[in-house]
Amino acid sequence: MAILITGGAGYIGSHTMVEFLTAGRELVVVDNFMNSKPESLRRVKEITGKDFRFYEVDLLDRDKLEKVFLENEIEACIHFAGLKAVGESCEKPLLYYHNNITGTLNLCELLAKYGAKRIVFSSSATVYGKPASVPITEDFPTSTTNPYGETKLMIERILADLVKADPEWSVSVLRYFNPIGAHPSGRIGEDPQGIPNNLLPYVSQVATGRREFLSIFGDDYATHDGTGVRDYIHVVDLARAHLSAIEYAEKTTGIDYFNIGTGVGYSVLDIVHAYETATGAKVPYRIAPRRPGDIDECYANPEKAAKVLGWRAEYGLEEMCRHAYGWQSQNPNGYDK
Ligand code: NAD
Ligand code: UFG
Repeated sequence: MAILITGGAGYIGSHTMVEFLTAGRELVVVDNFMNSKPESLRRVKEITGKDFRFYEVDLLDRDKLEKVFLENEIEACIHFAGLKAVGESCEKPLLYYHNNITGTLNLCELLAKYGAKRIVFSSSATVYGKPASVPITEDFPTSTTNPYGETKLMIERILADLVKADPEWSVSVLRYFNPIGAHPSGRIGEDPQGIPNNLLPYVSQVATGRREFLSIFGDDYATHDGTGVRDYIHVVDLARAHLSAIEYAEKTTGIDYFNIGTGVGYSVLDIVHAYETATGAKVPYRIAPRRPGDIDECYANPEKAAKVLGWRAEYGLEEMCRHAYGWQSQNPNGYDK
């Protein structure tokens, strides 16, 4: 019996594959490489010395996806595949709705048809919108401000309805906070196309000289130093949360929601300083106007995941920065040679 991983070639998927293969789990992986490269999968094999079955399949192609179910005994799924850029989702809403929602519908139909009614879904702290307070617990009200976040909320609702209609389903919704860092080997990591949207890849490219300086989007937020505060979590810790979630899903039915963060908020300036200390590199920056849609503070209360899943983040900020730098300096052009 195998676990199906959708979007396995991506940033979080590749790190999760390493943890599952190391734990001796059998994997079947699908990806259409719309935001990733085959090289990441080759490196997963290199790190683990383990093999897995891979299918280059678009989740929108239901017939091709069904072949994966016909050729393998799938018992559960970890569903990473989706588009994730907030700005792009505002420019191309139909692309985002179609890819993320239709892809998930096709997947769930097949999981049900082939009796694999267990799914761990990649949701996001973005579903909390602008939280009234921090830290955020799972029962906070949900809302969104962009099509990307809307797809996450819609999928959460689809999964909840699925469980209502068929209590055999087991659904774990993981609401990730801000994943950063890379595998300690420096062989896999985040490989954004073009100019990075997110803070850490940008900082890494400045630290390694690919970009001149970081623009800090606003220094007048209601935070300890005026710059935005987030809950950064090491991608390997995040990957391990999926192992715990799958083990939990194997024992339970119904739907559950988990914050996957550290519970600690760091500002943009905290990150810049920690990065410089951890790596010895310089990260020149300039204060720029606020980025539309950004919020002051967002960090998790991760106690539910600790209590129910038995999972807790272990890596600290120093390792997150050091590992991000290791990946970036060893692979200045990402997976492109
Ligand atoms: P990523 O883009 O690196 O990985 C997603 C993978 O899915 C890519 O390899 C892409 O090629 C694939 N994919 C997309 N649409 C597909 C389709 N229709 N068929 C087959 N494959 C498809 O992103 P990531 O950072 O690894 O994120 C994984 C998941 O976690 C996404 O659902 C994302 O929305 C969610 N998430 C990410 C973050 C973050 O900051 N990285 C935060 C919260 C939630
Ligand atoms: N920031 C800068 N300069 C940059 C990039 C970011 O100052 O060049 C700041 C932002 O203003 C924010 C912080 O760094 O204060 C973090 O920004 P990111 O773009 O790295 O992350 P966000 O918290 O804005 O968003 C991320 C994902 C979303 C997801 C959200 C919640 O990109 O998809 O976390 O999980 F929805």
